[in-house]
This record gives sequence, C-alpha cells and structure tokens, in this order.
Amino acid sequence: MLLSKLSLEKFRNYKSASLTFGEGLNFLIGNNAQGKTNLLEAIFYLCHLSSPRTSNDNDLILFGSEEAKVYGEVKTELGTYELEVVIPEKGRKKASVDGIVQSRYTDFQGHLTCVYFSPDDLKLVKGGPSERRRFMDLEISQVNPYYRHALNQYNKVLFQRNNLLKEGNFDPELLDVFSQQLVEAGSLIIEKRSSMLTRLNLLSKLLQRRLTELKESLSLKYEPSFPIEGDVKNAFHKALKEAFPEEKNKGYTLIGPHRDDFSMYIDDIDVRTYGSQGQQRTVVLALKLAELEFLKSESGEYPILLLDDVFSEIDDIRRRKLFEIVRQNRVQTFISTANPKDLEDIVGEQKRVFEIKRGCAGVKHDATFG
Ligand SMILES: Nc1ncnc2c1ncn2[C@@H]1O[C@H](COP(=O)(O)OP(=O)(O)O)[C@@H](O)[C@H]1O
Ligand SMILES: [Mg+2]
Repeated sequence: MLLSKLSLEKFRNYKSASLTFGEGLNFLIGNNAQGKTNLLEAIFYLCHLSSPRTSNDNDLILFGSEEAKVYGEVKTELGTYELEVVIPEKGRKKASVDGIVQSRYTDFQGHLTCVYFSPDDLKLVKGGPSERRRFMDLEISQVNPYYRHALNQYNKVLFQRNNLLKEGNFDPELLDVFSQQLVEAGSLIIEKRSSMLTRLNLLSKLLQRRLTELKESLSLKYEPSFPIEGDVKNAFHKALKEAFPEEKNKGYTLIGPHRDDFSMYIDDIDVRTYGSQGQQRTVVLALKLAELEFLKSESGEYPILLLDDVFSEIDDIRRRKLFEIVRQNRVQTFISTANPKDLEDIVGEQKRVFEIKRGCAGVKHDATFG
C-alpha cells in the first residue's frame, strides 16, 4: 500500500500544502512546533477518521478558519483511490472515496491502513487497560468493518444499560433487552480480540526475539473481564447474571469488553509493571511491528508506517533491525525527526526528505544513497 499524494488545506498550521511521497523512506525534518506531527496526524486521519491526539475534530482546523480538508491518493494492489475528508467547524464531517461521499464512515475507513508509533505509545505498556483496549480496537477496526459496527453498537447499548441501572427502580424486562444486545455485540468483540491476540502473540514473540538477538521471549495474553470456557455468549450471559446484584448496587455495567485488558510477559516478568525502560520500549516496537504483520495477514497488503519522533529514541541495533524489516517488506515509511543527523547513517535506502517549516513542506532531496 502506498500513499502517493497528500494535500492539506487549513489543517492545523498548514494553510495549503501538497506533497508527493516516495515508495521507501519519507523523512520529515524540521525544528519543534513546525508541523511534523500535524502532517502525520493528517495521514492518520485519512486512515481512521480520527486523530491520534485529540478527540475534538475542531482542533484540526487552522485557527480562524471554517473547515479543514485532507486529500490523499492511495495506491493498492486493487487499484488507486482518492480519499478526501472535509472537517467543518460546525456539522458533520464529509468523507469521500473517488469523489463519492460515504454516508457511513465505516465505508470510508480501511481504504488506507497504517501503523502509527509515537513516544506516547509507551502508554501501551505502562498505561492503564484502556490504552490497550484502544490499541486492539484501532487495529481490528482497520481490517474488519463488522467489528467497527459491533463496537459502535456495544457502546450505545452500554450507555443505555448504565443509565437504566443508575435509575435504581427500573423495568427488569427492559434490562433483559439491553443485556441481550450487550451480549450480542460484546461477544463478537471478544471473539475478534481473542483471535487477534493469538496472532499478535506469535508475531510479537518472533519480533521481540529478532529485536533482542534471541535474548527475550515475549508472551501476550488476552484478559477478558470474566472467565470464558466454551461458548462466549453463554459465558457472557452467565457472568452478567452473577454480576447483577453488584451491578444493581453500583449502578453500572461491571463486566464486558469495556473492561478487557491483555498482559505482556517476558519470561515470568509482567512487563507492564516490572519491565525495565529499555524492555518496555522494545516491547512497544515489537508490538508495532507485529501490528504491521497482522494488518498484512488480514488485508493482504502491508499498511504504511508512521514513526513520529521515535527515531532518535531507538538504539542503533533496533534501528537497523527496523530498517531490515521495512526494506524486506517494502513498507512505505514516514519518519519525523528534529535531528538531521539521524539521516546520515542511513545508507543504501531509497529516501525522500521534506523540510517542514511553519506549516510549509518542501522537498529537500530525493535520492538513493549509498
Ligand atoms: N488548529 C491549529 N491551527 C493553527 N496552528 C495550530 C493548530 N493546532 C496546532 N497548531 C500549531 O502547530 C504547531 C505544532 O505542530 P506539530 O506538528 O505538533 O510540531 P512538530 O513539528 O514539533 O511535530 C504549533 O506551533 C501549534 O501552535
Ligand atoms: Mg511532533
């Protein structure tokens, strides 16, 4: 998969910019606060229709403007697509594929897939369970529209069910209806998360070994909020029944995928709490590279890779391994850095370099070195 062109209009600090990207490594070089992350954020937005760093779309519109626009040309094995999103200050955003506005956002998502890696992703290991749920959701959603529907459905029902439980004096039949819907949508989510983690466990184990020169063995394990043996729906129903007295007492839903987590172990050590800083960083990298493989296995094509400011944080050995993997699989990669020195030791790679300055992006050079 290839993002060949990107245009921004009134997006963050970009008034107007058009870029043509290369197949290999695309470097975004510039001082702090010039617009490197903004540019990667725009690319991420074309994949997910959401930003990795804000839940308020209005933050994305250039200060003082009425709407932002992001356009991208995507080349895949199935053909070329033109994706465009218009984000107005008021009202619903418009997402179109090849000029046709998609009434359901889920029909837009998935045309461009990406793996995004920023220093914030350390939260994936060190943060609370919600970080890991978000990780699972973003990944599965990219390749599975049913999952996106189920997730929307689940959140809606969860909200209604919680409101009902909060009321105290409620109609038990209505609660049954909500519980039934919760189990329907929730079971699909649980099944997909579980099978994704089985794959991710194998992939990240291999990658962690590769990144640590066979020294470390990583294991991931899905941790659902209730014990599952046999049929997921039956187990969910049973667990809801058992939780009912406490739920009634507390006034909200205590079990279900909104309480899921997954664990990460190196040998017998829980990396979330006891891993060293170095181990935690390597685990995040292994997870991100495993994501790349997961998305490839699900969709048949490698996604694009966005590395925001993490380049200088990765040591030489892991950097070399990273390039090896990216090159072997011809993954189009975007790397932002404030340090032009980062480029010096990259030889033999096809790279294109953009200079980012106050919301303007220009090609600095485009060549294969080495
Ligand atoms: N909606 C917006 N309109 C205009 N400028 C913005 C908007 N949001 C953020 N900025 C500006 O973008 C700059 C930060 O850009 P960013 O891409 O995070 O920088 P970096 O190059 O360090 O990654 C800041 O100067 C900030 O003021
Ligand atoms: Mg930045």
